[in-house]
Amino acid sequence: MNPLFAPFPAARPRRLRRDAATRELVREHRLHPSDLIWPVFFQAGQGLETPVPSMPGVVRYSIDQLLPAAEAAAHLGIRALALFPVIDPALKDPQGREALNPEGLVPTCVRALKERLPELALITDVALDPYTSHGQDGVIDAQGRILNDETVALLAQQAVLQAQCGADIVAPSDMMDGRIGAIRQALEAVQQPYTRILAYSAKYASSYYGPFRDAVGSAANLGKADKKTYQMDPGNSNEALREVGLDIAEGADMVMVKPGLPYLDIVYRVKETYGVPTFAYQVSGEYAMIKAAAANGWIDHDAVMMETLLGFKRAGADAILSYFAPDAARLLRA
Ligand code: PBG
Repeated sequence: MNPLFAPFPAARPRRLRRDAATRELVREHRLHPSDLIWPVFFQAGQGLETPVPSMPGVVRYSIDQLLPAAEAAAHLGIRALALFPVIDPALKDPQGREALNPEGLVPTCVRALKERLPELALITDVALDPYTSHGQDGVIDAQGRILNDETVALLAQQAVLQAQCGADIVAPSDMMDGRIGAIRQALEAVQQPYTRILAYSAKYASSYYGPFRDAVGSAANLGKADKKTYQMDPGNSNEALREVGLDIAEGADMVMVKPGLPYLDIVYRVKETYGVPTFAYQVSGEYAMIKAAAANGWIDHDAVMMETLLGFKRAGADAILSYFAPDAARLLRA
């Protein structure tokens, strides 16, 4: 006879699941609105909220419309926005020069948001893909190869411009080698020592970015090309730890894993290994999948949204970039 089961089970884990009060007392992980970072798309113009068809519920705001939306998010307890510009195709060129325009869309938006909502943290994306006519995150040579060091020099200038306009956190999402060090050095050189760097350290060459590329209009520019010579191979995980290690050594304050749900093992390993602030990005394709299944009545939208976001925290994420941020914050407040 098994002594564990005689005359009754010695251990009854179900005791702690007996009622809601006990379940809540012993709950290990919780979501809070301040865990959520809201990525937003914005465009030139006035009075615009253009829907993104592959991301139901997501719109491209003109700046005047973004301001009240950002204010509402802040009232829900969201502390940070990640800004993604939709650049007029006529302003795109092979070098992505519009990225360095001090009167461009991102500088204008950062100044407007900072004036209206100084306490809201602004995270700006450092990468050239919204601005390049070929849709790549860097400048290219005659063969179409992405030039690393030439790109890094531009990214450092882009990050400096963003910091000088008031961005609190610059977030290089390009995956060029050495860009964190170059950006940190450039920020120090212009007396911006407190600008935080959120490094997209482990960003995979993922097929989950499709709806985002629709939203910012880079899909058409990119065409059939891919980003596999700089974004990581989905088969690798030790490499993610090496990338994170490099970025920390180069001066990153926070690191990011992207996409989210399919890469929770990476989130876990990064957090366990380095213990630094580790963020996860629930990307556009993940959002679209939940929306699509819910629209079909196949899953419960709110329940799956919250369970998924909680999963990021359980895996070790300190904050989560999610297009669900306002919806989730609203539920958490209720
Ligand atoms: C590009 C960038 C991408 C995303 C954020 N920054 C797309 C890409 O690498 O092509 C994707 C985010 C998402 O899918 O939600 N610098």
